[in-house]
Amino acid sequence: MFLITGATGNVGRHVVAELASQGRKVRALTRDPASARLPAGVEVAATADFPLDGVTAVFLNPAVFYTGFGDLLERCRAHGVRRVVMLSSLASEQAEDSNPIGRRHLDLEREIEASGLEWSFPRPGAFATNTLGWADRIRATGTVRGPYADAQLSPIHERDIAAVCARALTGDDLVGERPPLTGPESLTFADQARLIGKAIGKDVRYEELSPEAARAEMLGNPHMPPAIADSLLEMWAESVGRPAFISPEVERITGRPARTFAEWAADNADLFA
Ligand SMILES: NC(=O)c1ccc[n+]([C@@H]2O[C@H](COP(=O)([O-])OP(=O)(O)OC[C@H]3O[C@@H](n4cnc5c(N)ncnc54)[C@H](OP(=O)(O)O)[C@@H]3O)[C@@H](O)[C@H]2O)c1
Repeated sequence: MFLITGATGNVGRHVVAELASQGRKVRALTRDPASARLPAGVEVAATADFPLDGVTAVFLNPAVFYTGFGDLLERCRAHGVRRVVMLSSLASEQAEDSNPIGRRHLDLEREIEASGLEWSFPRPGAFATNTLGWADRIRATGTVRGPYADAQLSPIHERDIAAVCARALTGDDLVGERPPLTGPESLTFADQARLIGKAIGKDVRYEELSPEAARAEMLGNPHMPPAIADSLLEMWAESVGRPAFISPEVERITGRPARTFAEWAADNADLFA
């Protein structure tokens, strides 16, 4: 049995679908089982209950463990869980430079490593789903407002992250590995806005805000700590005019090329139109 935390999340939902389509037994955790809309045949349980009976491998999404793992890893061992796959972050590679996103994921990775459980830590860079934050404005005005129009990223499709995570849960080849995961191309924010426009048959323009104005908008979100906003702004500033890192790992692990941002935009066009 595979236990998936954050099962309604960007990646978790696709990990559940991938395992279920392979005929695997899946227990999906969510805070609200009644509204989870998970595939038929998947056992759905409350995150607060965390039932570990019969579980051999666990997928951990750090978003669920904002206050840390507590005694979870000990409980996993006591229940005979063999393997933990945690959705980490490419920012972990810069954690020693006091990048707070990387620091948090690296601390969680180290806690799991020390537990004695088998582990795998897929480390994705920027999710293509981050652009869903643009959807309301694109629908209303056909524009996006944000900082650093020319910042270069290699946004990754959440289904590619999920495919790697499913492989890490079910096979042995990624045990003890931290594969960096990215999309297949370096794109600016302005390129991403344009490609969303192409997917919905509309001109979508990226209007550049000053870093100060962008910071103020980011802090309007009550879930955005100032240290994270500052770290993101710094990362984007550094990536202006610098092609983003492209990892070959999605293709190596899954056997198919990483999906492009244009494919992602086509898959999600209804959310922007
Ligand atoms: N966004 C990026 O570009 C990026 C890049 C690299 C790494 N990451 C990392 O990837 C991870 C996933 O991020 P995400 O934003 O995409 O998350 P997400 O998958 O959207 O959220 C995961 C799920 O966790 C559950 N959840 C959220 N808050 C919770 C809480 N306080 N307690 C219990 N359950 C909670 C929710 O499910 P229910 O409502 O069903 O309970 C939610 O659907 C994070 O660690 C993030 O740092 C993100």
